Amino acid sequence: MAKLPILEFPDERLRTKAAPVETVDDEVRQLVDDMLETMYDARGIGLAATQIDVHRRVVVMDISDDNSQPLVLINPRYTPIGDEKDLLSEGCLSIPEHYAEVPRFLKVQLNALDRNGEAYELEAEGLLAHCIQHEYDHLEGVLFVDYLSPLKRDRIRKKMQKRHKQMQDA
Ligand code: NI
Repeated sequence: MAKLPILEFPDERLRTKAAPVETVDDEVRQLVDDMLETMYDARGIGLAATQIDVHRRVVVMDISDDNSQPLVLINPRYTPIGDEKDLLSEGCLSIPEHYAEVPRFLKVQLNALDRNGEAYELEAEGLLAHCIQHEYDHLEGVLFVDYLSPLKRDRIRKKMQKRHKQMQDA
């Protein structure tokens, strides 16, 4: 397995729309394993392939406290269950150290393929539902800062650009 570098906002590559996976083969499984390692190492609860500059519809997640429940979503789709929304504070491995409340559907039904290419569905609520919607957005080139006011988004962009300059200068 290999740990992969994560793109950070405002990198334009994060705006790429990902293409569907046609066959879940060994190459895709290797990608999944590398993404899980990268996500766990970065202490995240979700990672989309877009974030490691691979523009295919692959997401990994684990919202457990002890990294014991990896979830693999290949070609995910979700449908809201009801129209109730709630606010949760979200972070993103591509926007480190910034958090903001984002409205998302409280409950969704997820349809996806697993690591073996088998179709599955599950009903998700709360944090898991938020995470599914957040990661799905990545595959569409959308980031949580897009839900904020232009003022807040610009503030985060400037802080991120400063961070990248400091990293380059170091
Ligand atoms: Ni994210």
